[in-house]
Amino acid sequence: MPSEPLASWNGVLMPLGEVRVSVLDRSFLFGDAVYEVMRVYRGKPFLFSDHLARLQSNLQKLQILADVSEIGQRVLQVLQQSGIADGMIYIQITRGEAPRTHHFPHPPVRPNELIYVKTLDNSLHARREQGGTAILIDDVRWKRCDIKSVNLLANCLGAEQALAAGCDEAIFVDEQGTLVEGTHTSLFGVRQGILLTAPLGQHLLPGITRRLVLRLAEKCRISSIEEFLHRDRLDQIDELFLTGTTLEILPLIQIEGRMIGTGVPGPVTRSLQQAYRETVQAEC
Ligand code: PDD
Repeated sequence: MPSEPLASWNGVLMPLGEVRVSVLDRSFLFGDAVYEVMRVYRGKPFLFSDHLARLQSNLQKLQILADVSEIGQRVLQVLQQSGIADGMIYIQITRGEAPRTHHFPHPPVRPNELIYVKTLDNSLHARREQGGTAILIDDVRWKRCDIKSVNLLANCLGAEQALAAGCDEAIFVDEQGTLVEGTHTSLFGVRQGILLTAPLGQHLLPGITRRLVLRLAEKCRISSIEEFLHRDRLDQIDELFLTGTTLEILPLIQIEGRMIGTGVPGPVTRSLQQAYRETVQAEC
């Protein structure tokens, strides 16, 4: 049995199950909060400064006043206290507790800060080797998907639909037939040896793993272009894969029941998986 995750609630360490939050917290009432997920390898948070920079940018976008360098210190403290070597860190910063009004509380209240660390199970390892499957779903989300907010209902519905279909992920498709991203992952394709991924903008999350993969492609001398994949042109795609902090790189061998490429993880995906592992070895 894995032990209960260790949490830091506003800087106080306690088992995650003992954290209590007010029903007046704006995260509970309005989903008024941002979050981050980091991967831990050999006791070190991977791509730590990139995650903190994205957290800072999200806090600024929502005008939540919290000090990211102090959050970073507390993340390291919980991680060290937990003794976890291989796992993940979850951080959520809410606007805080205030009487329910749609506008922000004025003057601002103290944000609530949750950090916890937990181990991960190994089930993803086999999927990364064999390859996974996905379905396509309508992108019914709001128009600020670049903000990593806890408003994830459309993502949860999509993930549930994928699970019910026996698939690993659901990919959001917009009204033009463009494949945007997964419910909790970024999407990449390979066409004639060239790596493709959707350009950044307000329609999707600027994935930290996405950025790493683009850097790894350059290192591996794989050309890349930021270009949308289209549902009607999937037959031109030789390889597809998903990226995410806990997922790492998952090859997709089937989408909507149709085989991608030769139906096994392709060579570009394999090279990037290898380069990812080397980066973890070098940095953690
Ligand atoms: N999900 N797109 C969405 C909508 C996401 O929620 C995520 C991450 C990603 C990948 O981003 P990154 O490489 O920075 O993890 C893309 C996290 C892990 C989650 O919600 O648990």
